Amino acid sequence: DQYLEPSTVETVSQYACQRRTTMENHNQIFTDAFAILAENAEFNESEGPCLAFMRAASLLKSLPHAISSSKDLEGLPCLGDQTKAVIEDILEYGQCSKVQDVLCDDRYQTIKLFTSVFGVGLKTAEKWYRKGFHSLEEVQADNAIHFTKMQKAGFLYYDDISAAVCKAEAQAIGQIVEETVRLIAPDAIVTLTGGFRRGKECGHDVDFLITTPEMGKEVWLLNRLINRLQNQGILLYYDIVESTFDKTRLPCRKFEAMDHFQKCFAIIKLKKELAAGRVQKDWKAIRVDFVAPPVDNFAFALLGWTGSRQFERDLRRFARHERKMLLDNHALYDKTKKYLKKKTTNNYLALNDVCSDLSEWHYKG
Ligand code: CTP
Ligand code: MN
Ligand code: MN
Ligand code: MN
Repeated sequence: DQYLEPSTVETVSQYACQRRTTMENHNQIFTDAFAILAENAEFNESEGPCLAFMRAASLLKSLPHAISSSKDLEGLPCLGDQTKAVIEDILEYGQCSKVQDVLCDDRYQTIKLFTSVFGVGLKTAEKWYRKGFHSLEEVQADNAIHFTKMQKAGFLYYDDISAAVCKAEAQAIGQIVEETVRLIAPDAIVTLTGGFRRGKECGHDVDFLITTPEMGKEVWLLNRLINRLQNQGILLYYDIVESTFDKTRLPCRKFEAMDHFQKCFAIIKLKKELAAGRVQKDWKAIRVDFVAPPVDNFAFALLGWTGSRQFERDLRRFARHERKMLLDNHALYDKTKKYLKKKTTNNYLALNDVCSDLSEWHYKG
């Protein structure tokens, strides 16, 4: 008969954390367009449109099929008039004129180039653009500009850092980090996080969470790790940001809540095999992030640093709107009761609980 089984009626959640997303993207032609429009909106500080394009891209990435007509969009969340118009343009003409305009835009091209330098944010890029610069050479030749230590490293290792990091390189860095940390604290916990933990084939950096099973011992880890890497002669740049953790503070309501853990942004020299007979340097500079949360917060730090950014954003939004809780990289809070929830017995288990269903958390107090 003609009745549909309930299970065949697909409903797609508006929350990325409620959607199954594989590495397989069937809608790349659309998501690439949205990524460009989101980036341009970000450069123009249009937060609303930026978020809308990122949400739309995230939703299309989760679909098990390619969008082939506007009929396929019926019933899908996260798509507004603007994003639908882009999809329809691409369906009809193979490209979207709005996207083509952005790609040809002088300001977009230049801000994209300048912000691709490690240590250069939107404000600095704009300043350089307003000076009339269009290339990195012009910027570097200006004696009036004072570059930060980070930007100097950014220019020095620009070619290496702007090339993608592949999985094999991430694994090689992981081995170095693991071995070096073992020398400092044999029982330390070293976890690869970020895009490579999500199974991505390449990334812009390699992210690690490092902690000790004993609370408080983690405060020594990063400085000692940095010392050791320096002694090995493979540390090209580092910037340790000290912990600003205040347990009395409630989590921030902003989408991109910065955490208060001690962290280190580094550039590490990775030895590589040379192709026979080629004259080139035998190493590649790789961007590496280290975060050292206390073991008490490890589960939440791991959840927060695994990404993707959209997944994290939607997980916090889900916690707030659907569970009346506040989630950040430190803990999960009950918005109404203001009790700090944590399961200290087994942080890995606690993480699984958070992932499977925020509602399954019990309250104490
Ligand atoms: N993150 C965070 N707080 C920061 C920086 C990052 O919580 N101050 C989280 C973000 O949710 C992000 C993840 O850590 O998704 C990893 O950050 P990043 O390395 O910037 O992104 P990846 O997803 O690893 O992507 P890429 O491959 O480009 O590195
Ligand atoms: Mn598929
Ligand atoms: Mn990363
Ligand atoms: Mn990172």
